[in-house]
Amino acid sequence: MASIASRSASQALRTASRRACRASVKAAVARTQAASYSLLARRAGRASQAPSILGSRGIKTLDFAGTKEVVYERSDWPLPKLQEYFKNDTLALIGYGSQGHGQGLNARDNGLNVIVGVRKDGESWRQAIADGWVPGETLFPIEEAIQKGTIIMNLLSDAAQSQTWPKIAPLITKGKTLYFSHGFSVVYKNDTKVVPPADVDVILVAPKGSGRTVRTLFKEGRGINASIAVWQDVTGQAKEKATAIAVGIGAGYMYETTFEKEVYSDLYGERGVLMGGIQGMFLAQYQVLRKNGHSPSEAFNETVEEATQSLFPLIGANGMDYMYNACSTTARRGALDWAPIFEQANLPVFEKLYESVKNGTETRKSLEFNGRSTYRQDLAKELAEIDNQEIWRAGKVVRSLRPDYKPDSE
Ligand SMILES: NC(=O)c1ccc[n+]([C@@H]2O[C@H](COP(=O)([O-])OP(=O)(O)OC[C@H]3O[C@@H](n4cnc5c(N)ncnc54)[C@H](OP(=O)(O)O)[C@@H]3O)[C@@H](O)[C@H]2O)c1
Repeated sequence: MASIASRSASQALRTASRRACRASVKAAVARTQAASYSLLARRAGRASQAPSILGSRGIKTLDFAGTKEVVYERSDWPLPKLQEYFKNDTLALIGYGSQGHGQGLNARDNGLNVIVGVRKDGESWRQAIADGWVPGETLFPIEEAIQKGTIIMNLLSDAAQSQTWPKIAPLITKGKTLYFSHGFSVVYKNDTKVVPPADVDVILVAPKGSGRTVRTLFKEGRGINASIAVWQDVTGQAKEKATAIAVGIGAGYMYETTFEKEVYSDLYGERGVLMGGIQGMFLAQYQVLRKNGHSPSEAFNETVEEATQSLFPLIGANGMDYMYNACSTTARRGALDWAPIFEQANLPVFEKLYESVKNGTETRKSLEFNGRSTYRQDLAKELAEIDNQEIWRAGKVVRSLRPDYKPDSE
């Protein structure tokens, strides 16, 4: 139901002239969000029966395995309250990559006043137009959007945030709010040179997922988890503003953190288990199977396909012990024996990685590489090399045999 309501709302949004049809857009959006909120409210209702939860509606202290943490929930921000809160604001979304797309469309669907600022005639400019942002009305060159905005959402690539800072900084005048989705620029200020003016609130909302997921979860009536943090609170309202914007861009639950903790954990996680580590583990396991005479399909099935299609979703649903319990006793015995061996082998690598994040090595590499004018082509070249690895070529054939396979999704 939620996704049907969501689709009709976005269709209404696309076809409506933004100004003339603001009322009908808001009505469609209200339906979408009402559906989203009702799902979350039901979940929150169930959660509030758990004995470990303290606190009023919308703000909860939860016991995370013995450590108490505060979690904010979007039920505290019904749509009318959210729109009222931002009624005098213009959210200037600078940059239209994965996050710009997801956050911008969600905030727009939530009826907030959003404009986009990107360099003219670049790839993002084209994508923004395709998503219904209108040049001169809701789409502007970067500097112009910042001048028009009251909340400056810096969603340029982290390298571009550093490169453009000398031009951007003077435009972030008193009374505006500076927003990031990563602690990167301000935490590593010695490398990025991004030092916010002293008279503006500086806040962070970092969705825990790609911008595409920010969008799809919103359309499904769910909300992504997001970290929120305050770097500088001039008005005394910075945390409240961060929580409200998080809801505006499609977050369901907000976890409080600091800019430092957010950037350290994020850089570490994506280099580790989330992306770098998983590719390394898959490749290592696959290579040994191949060296020992296993066919590509067997090596792929036993490494990637079973993981992603069968076992990892079980971890996601109910945890590691649940996944173990779904497997044979033979598998359980072996996995229990080998898990500590992998843990010990990997610990020094993770220690080294955390240090490389903390001392800024990872930041400097990223600034250098992604600051090149050829960053898109350079990244594409390396990703094409991965695509061409035997494991992933074999994977294409395995995927094509799935019952729900759609050729154009490759
Ligand atoms: N993606 C994620 O999963 C994720 C998750 C949480 C937080 N974040 C954070 O969100 C922020 C945005 O990330 P993202 O992944 O959405 O974007 P991204 O792909 O890293 O950056 C894309 C944007 O940066 C612009 N850009 C790049 N170089 C530029 C330059 N020299 N001058 C002007 N614009 C330039 C691009 O415009 P052109 O098209 O014109 O090149 C595009 O609009 C980052 O701080 C990131 O760390 C990302």
